[in-house]
Amino acid sequence: MDQNIKKENPFDRLFMNQEEQYSSLYTNLQNSRKIEEFKKYLRHELESNLTLEHPIFSELSRPTSVELLQLMVLQGYQLTKMFARYVAMLYYNCPVSKEFELDRMKLAANLYEEETGRLSKTTGHLQLMQRFARSIRLTEEELESATPQPETLDLINYRLELVSNPKTFHMGAAAVMIASEGQNLEKKNGKDRHQLLPDGLKLNDYDLAFFTVHAAEDVYHVRDGIELVAKLCQNQKMQEEAVQAIHQTCARFWRFYDGIQRVYKSKKTHPLI
Ligand SMILES: [Fe+2]
Repeated sequence: MDQNIKKENPFDRLFMNQEEQYSSLYTNLQNSRKIEEFKKYLRHELESNLTLEHPIFSELSRPTSVELLQLMVLQGYQLTKMFARYVAMLYYNCPVSKEFELDRMKLAANLYEEETGRLSKTTGHLQLMQRFARSIRLTEEELESATPQPETLDLINYRLELVSNPKTFHMGAAAVMIASEGQNLEKKNGKDRHQLLPDGLKLNDYDLAFFTVHAAEDVYHVRDGIELVAKLCQNQKMQEEAVQAIHQTCARFWRFYDGIQRVYKSKKTHPLI
């Protein structure tokens, strides 16, 4: 056994003198305080990179913006198709140890809900998105034949690379569980994402289930993500990498909306394209 690795024995404390006991207690307190501060910092970084501030959401609330909403759903569907796979990869790469037992259970539950919707008593999240698409008059063929814009593809691939590589597991968890799940928690002027849709669509609770389920569940997913990432980041370098992953993901969500806006403007200028 490597002599340099000193495993903490819970009984060691009994043999410490009082000065050593205080110093050990102080180090533990300092470490737990640092972890608590890091958790707050992660949430702060998410909340200070809001994408609901993107100008596309001001345009969306106009009654004439149904076509814009359809474009958003066609691109959003590309992201939804990938989401359960990210969670599955995170589950696969999550350390198999007692310390991460609860995290693995939560990731498994998250995947189960993504595929079945049974925890929220609805249905699979991909089906919920298809339901919403139908409610805004997109056909199944339009939905299935849509292809991702370059910006959408970049957002998909950035997260896929992070979750696929065990070495970037902490960044993948930050990108998916904090930055991506956090997108559904944002509010603009006190309104949830789905309350910013064009007026006059007459959508009911059934149509909007994709959004209401996420608004409720992702509160817990982000909290779980923060706990997991804080536990995973054992040093300052890893902490900085996780924060970078949040920034990079949010920046790519912003560009995802840029891409949709570009297509929308070009369609308005050249209606036959
Ligand atoms: Fe989902």
